[in-house]
Amino acid sequence: MSKPSVLVARKTFDDIVDRLRPHFEVEANDSDTGWSQDELIRRLQGKAGAYIAGGDRIDAKLLDACPELKAVCTMAVGYNNIDVAACTARGVVVTNAPDVLTETTADFGFALMMATARRITESEHFLRRGEWKQWSVTMFAGADVHGATLGVLGMGRIGAAIARRGHLGFGMPVLYHNRSRLPADQEAPLGAQWVEKDELLRRADHLIIVVPYSASSHHLIGQRELRLMKKTATLTNIARGGVVDDAALAAELKVGTIAAAGLDVFEGEPTVHPDLLACENVVLTPHIASATIATRRAMSNLAVDNLIAALTGGAPTTALNP
Ligand code: DGY
Repeated sequence: MSKPSVLVARKTFDDIVDRLRPHFEVEANDSDTGWSQDELIRRLQGKAGAYIAGGDRIDAKLLDACPELKAVCTMAVGYNNIDVAACTARGVVVTNAPDVLTETTADFGFALMMATARRITESEHFLRRGEWKQWSVTMFAGADVHGATLGVLGMGRIGAAIARRGHLGFGMPVLYHNRSRLPADQEAPLGAQWVEKDELLRRADHLIIVVPYSASSHHLIGQRELRLMKKTATLTNIARGGVVDDAALAAELKVGTIAAAGLDVFEGEPTVHPDLLACENVVLTPHIASATIATRRAMSNLAVDNLIAALTGGAPTTALNP
């Protein structure tokens, strides 16, 4: 009997792709460029499964055009690019890759927050431009991180890992807002206190955004919210671009409503709003919060495990279908 076929739509480590070969005929993207949705539909013809990443859109149109598809396994934790309800209605298993990236992503969120507060890239650009003529008391004086109030918007696994770093490592009082409050025995080790969103915005010295993207979190942070924040505050976004209104953020950064921002994700990425590119007080990185070799391997391996399980009668460990 011939083996089912699967598509690896995103280039990943060769040895991890090879794990699929005993089970399936494999077509793999060998370029770092993702495919358009039309190309994805074309390549998914006759495929039973797909290994994908955050930029690959799986919606009803694609599902209807690919009736043999039985499993979609993303190597990302975020899955706002997948219409899970449409998949479920057509019997397509959907999995994501939580947990394996939590600590790595929290490390990066913390690093980005620190780079933003301490003006690291801004000062590096100044040095590289040859503008450093002498040491000065006030040159690139930024904001302390230790002891400052950390605001966490979205207290899931990654939010909790960031709160733990702030509380235990940097002596930061931690405030958070989440739709549901954590039980007291989970708040205590994080030193975390639940507050309403507006109070979080008013009181945080360093706000970090870690909420999943959905219709209800679209532009959760816009002009009104930014104007509630302290003039000295920083905002770091490692969630999804659409959670922050980038145009509003650029406008408010320009007039000093807040001190600085650190952004790893953008609305419409890889395009970045030109007004953000023009701001000196923003640290910009290309969606790399989970990008360590060990973690990207773990994410890829989990997606491959799930794909094998879903198509060979096993139970994927991180299925998203209800
Ligand atoms: C994730 O896993 O969701 C990261 O943002 C990479 O896409």
